[in-house]
Amino acid sequence: CRILVLNGPNLGHLGQRQPHIYGTQGMRDLPDLVETLMGQAVDEVELLFFQANGEGQIIDRLEQAHRESVHGVALNAGAYTHTSLALADCLAWIDPPCVEVHLSNILARSESMRHVSLIAPQCIGVISGFGLLSYALAIQTLWLRWTTSMA
Ligand code: DQA
Repeated sequence: CRILVLNGPNLGHLGQRQPHIYGTQGMRDLPDLVETLMGQAVDEVELLFFQANGEGQIIDRLEQAHRESVHGVALNAGAYTHTSLALADCLAWIDPPCVEVHLSNILARSESMRHVSLIAPQCIGVISGFGLLSYALAIQTLWLRWTTSMA
């Protein structure tokens, strides 16, 4: 099962960026966390990582994931979550199922703009507020969906 972990703007310096909001762990810590969560099933998962600050680069990577028949996408679109109709339009047609991921609980953030997601309607679900574990949970869910679709 091939899963793309796709990070949008300002997520390239995780661990350093406002750690009181986004935590002290970085993407390098994710594989261990996924293994802790998934146990032996982790052997069935191949993780692909991509981060970009530009909206177009993210859309290009999603189109590539579609062409390469990636089995699922764990997408933290950062602030584009709240603004990007272009990203929503892309998610509306590509094949790989997408889980919207956030480190922080966007519904609990003080800025009301963060409470709105333009991409959520095009995702199979949203996981928000568990720090790096949000990504691991998204990966586990996408894997589970993939194994059950194989059965
Ligand atoms: C974020 C939440 C967004 O509102 C913010 O713009 C981010 C990170 C999160 O992971 O909590 O860049 O997506």
